Amino acid sequence: MRQALSVVSECAPLIKTGGLADVAGALPAALAHEGWHLRSILPGYPSVMRPLKSGTATSTVVELETLFGGPARLLSCNLAGLDMLILDAPHLYDREGSIYLGLDGNDWPDNPVRFAALSRVAAWLATSGPEEYRPEILHLHDWQAGLTPIYLKQMAKGPVPGTLFTIHNIAFHGLADQSMLSKLQLPRQSFTPVGFEFYGKISALKAGLMFSDKLTTVSPQYALELMEPEFGMGLDGVLRHRRNDLVGILNGIDLDGWNPSDDEHIVSYTTARGKARNKARLRKEFDLPQTDGPLAVVVTRLTTQKGLDLLLEALPGLIDNGGQLALLGSGDHDLELGFMRLAANSPNVGVRIGYDESLSHRLIAGGDAILVPSRFEPCGLTQLYGLRYGTIPVVARTGGLSDTVVHANEVALRSGVATGIQVAPNSSSALYEGLKTLCTLYSESGTWAKIQKNAMKQAVGWGPSASHYAALYNGLSKQA
Ligand code: ADP
Ligand code: GLC
Repeated sequence: MRQALSVVSECAPLIKTGGLADVAGALPAALAHEGWHLRSILPGYPSVMRPLKSGTATSTVVELETLFGGPARLLSCNLAGLDMLILDAPHLYDREGSIYLGLDGNDWPDNPVRFAALSRVAAWLATSGPEEYRPEILHLHDWQAGLTPIYLKQMAKGPVPGTLFTIHNIAFHGLADQSMLSKLQLPRQSFTPVGFEFYGKISALKAGLMFSDKLTTVSPQYALELMEPEFGMGLDGVLRHRRNDLVGILNGIDLDGWNPSDDEHIVSYTTARGKARNKARLRKEFDLPQTDGPLAVVVTRLTTQKGLDLLLEALPGLIDNGGQLALLGSGDHDLELGFMRLAANSPNVGVRIGYDESLSHRLIAGGDAILVPSRFEPCGLTQLYGLRYGTIPVVARTGGLSDTVVHANEVALRSGVATGIQVAPNSSSALYEGLKTLCTLYSESGTWAKIQKNAMKQAVGWGPSASHYAALYNGLSKQA
């Protein structure tokens, strides 16, 4: 098999803060069907190192006396069925807190260095590493891998692997002060507007966008939106400049991990009617009374991106029409407080603040609808879980949400293709109307059953998207 290396800052099930980890964890199996062996290089965070310290077989690929201020080792191992290269550099990764944020809730001040190290070791491996680990393709994910093509050029001794950069979220730029140029070992001559300079700062994201051979993002609609000022976050010009190399490839989900007929976290079911027991349990778990209206669920990071402040305002559209809400999420303090207050004052709202994988399955299995009112959404995975579980998505018409949900207008309902409700424009008043529509559709049981059936039939796996990535890998490796 041909070899590719994924350079990534999180990878499920080893370490996860969001959908990036799911995608990184799923791509190797998906691409194996396409003849590509995808290994991943990941920082040695404490939770990743734990199994390695307690007996998992590893071999040392390289030991470095110093990598940005401390010793480091690159370890090869198999974890959770994934072929991994773990960058063990305690001075960069061995710390409590989240992988990106310190205990004070702010970015780790040395984040630029932490992920430059990951990128630099990936570039070293691709140019000078042992033959057996050298990839034909480097698949770079988000800003954390953005400096790789620059290091690759610096270290090149001959032809270098093709580089594919995937934008999962353009909101995070990986900025560093220009005084860091030499510390990060970056070429001063590329610190320009046509290089990796972004308004006077070093941007790891821009480096990835300017210097990778091909760019992808995680849905076709988001690929278009990225070229617009409203969504490009200052990099829309760069993406217009690279439009011929940019393509949107929809994410899939793990069909084994998210399978209503075989899911260890729920009472398994094969038809939407089988949801009833899960719904009853969920109501009990969230202390919600039995009602005739729809039970809507949310599983999310609580951030501005996800539009949950709009939901706080629009919720009467659901509750006053007989619906209920059960939410699981964590993030911004104000949003957490807002939802907790709401739950305290409304018997039809239940809220859990935190991160809980098993509860996320119970919510998606027990809910009638899943709400995703994002301001922007590169792809989104929870609406895909919803489709598979017959849990009807109510989504903002943006990015991957609009690519994956067919709005239940009259024509779509009549022709049997509707799978959910799209809300546009993305405002609290439009969301209010969307929630009212949800309650109306739910009350028409025949219509509702049809939408559920359509949703559960929709293909949400990796098949076609994996072939698309493989085609890009093939094209790039021929060029090299
Ligand atoms: P993003 O990556 O922007 O957060 P996605 O929808 O692509 O959005 O992916 C989010 C992933 O994280 C999904 O797998 C979702 O189920 C999971 N998730 C988000 N918040 C929580 C939570 N509080 N508890 C459990 N899983 C969560
Ligand atoms: C990002 C995006 C999300 C996408 C995920 C995986 O976190 O916010 O929309 O599904 O990456 O690509």
